[in-house]
Parts: sequence; structure tokens; C-alpha cells
Amino acid sequence: MLARLTAVLFIMISSLTVSANAGERMQLIPQQGLHQFPFFDTPTPVWNYNGQIPGPTIRGKVGSTLTVDVLNRLAEPTSVHWHGLRIDNAMDGVPGVTQDPIQPGDTFTYHLKLIDAGTFWYHPHLNAGEQLERGLKGVLIVDPSEKLPWSQDLIWLLDDWRLQKEGTIYSRFNTHGDLMHDGRWGNAVTVNGKSKPEFLVSPGERIRLRLVNGANARVFLPTFDGLTAKVIAVDGRPVSATFPLKTFYLSPGNRIDLDITIPVDAAGKTFSVSDHFTRKPFPVASIKVKNEKATKTPTFDTPTAENYIPAAIFEKANVAKTWDLNAISGGQYGIGWSLNQKLWPDADLGDLAIGRPQKIVFKNSSSRLHPMHIHGVFFRVLERNGKIAAEPFTRDTVLVGPRESVTIGLVPEHNGIWLTHCHIQSHAEAGMMTTVTVE
Ligand code: C2O
Ligand code: CU
Repeated sequence: MLARLTAVLFIMISSLTVSANAGERMQLIPQQGLHQFPFFDTPTPVWNYNGQIPGPTIRGKVGSTLTVDVLNRLAEPTSVHWHGLRIDNAMDGVPGVTQDPIQPGDTFTYHLKLIDAGTFWYHPHLNAGEQLERGLKGVLIVDPSEKLPWSQDLIWLLDDWRLQKEGTIYSRFNTHGDLMHDGRWGNAVTVNGKSKPEFLVSPGERIRLRLVNGANARVFLPTFDGLTAKVIAVDGRPVSATFPLKTFYLSPGNRIDLDITIPVDAAGKTFSVSDHFTRKPFPVASIKVKNEKATKTPTFDTPTAENYIPAAIFEKANVAKTWDLNAISGGQYGIGWSLNQKLWPDADLGDLAIGRPQKIVFKNSSSRLHPMHIHGVFFRVLERNGKIAAEPFTRDTVLVGPRESVTIGLVPEHNGIWLTHCHIQSHAEAGMMTTVTVE
């Protein structure tokens, strides 16, 4: 038993290596580097944080303040956005809106007061189509004050890369094809920078698995063959009622936390995890069960939703905004992705009243995908195409499908100028961004 515990602890510690502890100060250094993909003999030039792909997993405790010094060792300006965190607006990492770009050689210090426990991630918010694609991203976990006895807490950062056979990243960004379609889809899918990794578990084990979609544009529809995966959190917040993972569109920016019990009789088995979003499903990773005696499955209740926004409070709420999502001609690429026919920085979608329940309608007039993200707030999906579709969870990013209209409800709680955009980087850079002023 002790040996097994030690083994489990070792796995946990080794997967969490460069993490910051609650209240600690850490340094994040965006820089050029190399990453060895299994497809090539030589390493591929990438941009990374602290020499790692993906960047270090940052962990902090809820209620604490994390200090992160970002030293820019890239040859161009950058910034770091903490996707999903409800933080002081000045720490949101959006150049031109909340801060100046961090110039090469300069340091910007972020103070992150962690108010929600859950799964978040970080990435640049400048020349983001290129900076994310070259490898700049990482996961940020906010741990609750009391940890639940999961035997493993696994993080899978899903990504894709557009690699060329010489072993380099295709270096034209926002191409006509990317802009006309659903952005830059890669030809190599990775989990934590690895191709089809295998994760070792024991029979009877109960694991928490956090999926993060860090891709520029690819949507994942993850399927666990033979395993029951329960969704316990979405976009960093516990759901109000858990549900089995059947179809969840994990669009760029989204996270889901899963509760998975490995069957006691599964010794020696391998479970494949595949993606079913595209017409041809393909394996993404696998879970391999060690050939050993089953451990006793721990029983405990998963975290429940706090600060939950009940759907009922939106019954009488007004539609504060309707945002029409469509392509127009114009802008720096000739094709612009617009909000109400306007391109960033011209689209001015105005104010949202603080503390008041209100609705926003994302009306997709195009035949493309738009995962819409609002900074600094969680919202609920209330309707799809005019039909009630109240989800038992809040989110910060929602996929709006071709010609689909999605109504969300939100109660803005934090003052400031918050960015809102499509999380397909090429669409955002071609204009599909705006700010909302919460006051
Ligand atoms: Cu992942 Cu503007 O965000
Ligand atoms: Cu879009």
C-alpha cells in the first residue's frame, strides 16, 4: 500500500514539476526554443514559456494572490492573458486595452488574485495567431482550499500544429484560406506537446482529467471509448449537476473537468480517446490500465457549483446586445470578420450595466464557426435558435455554429473594459473583437 501511495504521489509530483505554490512569485519567460516532435529526426523551432512545450503548469490556491513576472525574451512584443480568471481588469493582459505591450527585454508583473478554483489557461494576446501557434500557452490550475482524494489529477492540453515535412512550423499566418474558413487548423494533433500519449492508471483508480483546448481554431469532440467520463466542471467552474460526457464541443478556449473511475476489472486494458468532430475520427491519446490488482475506488462528492447563476434570474432580463457575426470585405486582409458589420477597433458594443442580469444574442449569419469568448465574466447559455437550451453550467466561451443563434445570460460583476472576441485567432485578427465596458 505504501509503495503504491508513493508511486501515485510520484506521478502527481512529476506531472506538476514547474508549478508555483500559493502566494508564491514565479517568472514566466516567453522565448525561442526547440521542441522534439516524434514525426521528425531533429527538433522543431518553437516559441515557448520557460523552455517548455506546453508552458509550465501554474498552480495556486483559491483566495491567494499569485505574482507572475513575465520577462519577454522574444524578438517582438507580447502579453499574457489569463483565460477565464476573474481578475482586476488591469491584469487581464490585453495590449491596447488593459496594458501596454511588453517590449523585448522588458518585464511586466501580473498580480493574480485567485477567486475561483478550477481549470484555466494562459496565452499571449498580441499577434496571438502566430504566438499561440508557435507554442506559447500553458495551463493554470486554481486549487480549492480542501483537496479531494483523486488518485491522479491529469491535465491534457489539446493542441494542433501545422507542420511542414522539413520539420518546421508553417510560417504564413492568417492566410486567405485561414480567413475564408474556420481559421488555422493544423495537421498534427498533440496532447501536452506529444502525439497520442499513453497515460498509465491502475484498475479501480478514480482520476480527475482536465481537458483544455489550446488550439488556434480546431474544435474537439472528445470521445472515451469504454470509459464513463462524468463532466464535473466547465470552463473552470463546477457544474450544478454532473452529466456523462457524450457530446461536448470543446472549442478553442474551452475546458472541461472529468471524473473517471477505471473499472476494477480493466487490468491490462487500453482505452482509446478519440476526436469525433471531423468526419474521420482519429485517436488523440490512450489510457492504459496496469496489469495489477485493483485499488479500492475512493468515494467522495465532487465539488458543487458555488456562485451559481440560476437560469430563472434571466426570465425577465432584457436583451442588452445582439451581435451579428459575419464576414465583410475590408480590413487589413481584404476579408474581415465583423461584429455588427464593424471590424476591430471600430466595433463599439458599448456598456453593460454592472450587477444586472442581462442577455446577449450571438447571431451567426455566416456558415463558419465562432467560439465566442468574453473576458472577466462567466455566462450561461439560455437558448439556441430561439429554443430553450439552459445548460447546467456557466462558461466563458461558447461555440456558435453556422447560422446558429445563441442567447446567453450574464451578470457583469467586475468593472473595467473587457475584451470580447471569437477565439479562432484568424477571425479575431481579421476584426472579430470588441470591448465591453462594465460599469
Ligand atoms: Cu483565451 Cu481573449 O482569450
Ligand atoms: Cu470566428
